Amino acid sequence: MRTLSLIGIGAGDPEHVTMQAVAALNRVDVFFVMDKGSQKDDLVQLRRDICARYITHDKYRFVEIEDPVRDLSIVSYPERVQRWHEARVALYQATLSRELGEHGRGGILVWGDPMLYDSSLRIVEQLCARDPQLTYDVIPGISSIQVLCARHRITLNQIGGAVHITTGRRLQQGFPAGVHDVLVMLDGECSFRTLDEPELQIYWGAYLGTAHEILIAGKLGEVATQIEQVRADARERHGWIMDTYLLRREQPRD
Ligand SMILES: C[S@@+](CC[C@H](N)C(=O)[O-])C[C@H]1O[C@@H](n2cnc3c(N)ncnc32)[C@H](O)[C@@H]1O
Repeated sequence: MRTLSLIGIGAGDPEHVTMQAVAALNRVDVFFVMDKGSQKDDLVQLRRDICARYITHDKYRFVEIEDPVRDLSIVSYPERVQRWHEARVALYQATLSRELGEHGRGGILVWGDPMLYDSSLRIVEQLCARDPQLTYDVIPGISSIQVLCARHRITLNQIGGAVHITTGRRLQQGFPAGVHDVLVMLDGECSFRTLDEPELQIYWGAYLGTAHEILIAGKLGEVATQIEQVRADARERHGWIMDTYLLRREQPRD
């Protein structure tokens, strides 16, 4: 039986790697890393640094898999993503059968936690469905949401309140109904600009847990332009950016 371990490695700070993840890292023979192009070299390097720091033997190796390009001619977003996942599954399948021994253990180092906006689990489920000799386990990691809240020293929810986690794309359809706290990820367009609610509180963080970390908080009407500018400058400087934010409406007191 071959095994794949999906290991959450935290959102940028190597000290967020848990003891459980360290034990799992030490059991892996081959780490499979999706190469997402030179702009994300920093992120691949961080994975290598984590292994060098926490693995106590030198018998492991890295295999890079070139990430397939998304076909932008497919208009439907879900279909485009589905095709892209299928291409990734095919690539993984070919690479696993070439690189992983009959009883080998492969590792996939997942940014943050594997349960949140990450396709690795879906890909691995599909790989296991195609190969009865392949199984997998999941090691949780510190998510960027946890780091955002810790850095701003805030709770994610207000007392007894619900929290809505969404993407920038969906936020553009409006502030979700029925909640006072909305956590936004995967937003390349500062979608908070589309909300006409200057009193909303925003807690924004970029490169959380890394040496480049930036934090801004305040009323949307007061800091939205600043965030846009800071974000654009940082993206230009580093060649990539990862940012996330919490939008908070004051919850009425009963
Ligand atoms: C593909 S999702 C992966 C989320 C990850 N699984 C997690 O648990 O945080 C990538 C998005 O997570 C957020 N993110 C991840 N790491 C971050 C970081 N260090 N700083 C700020 N945002 C981050 C950004 O919104 C980014 O677009």
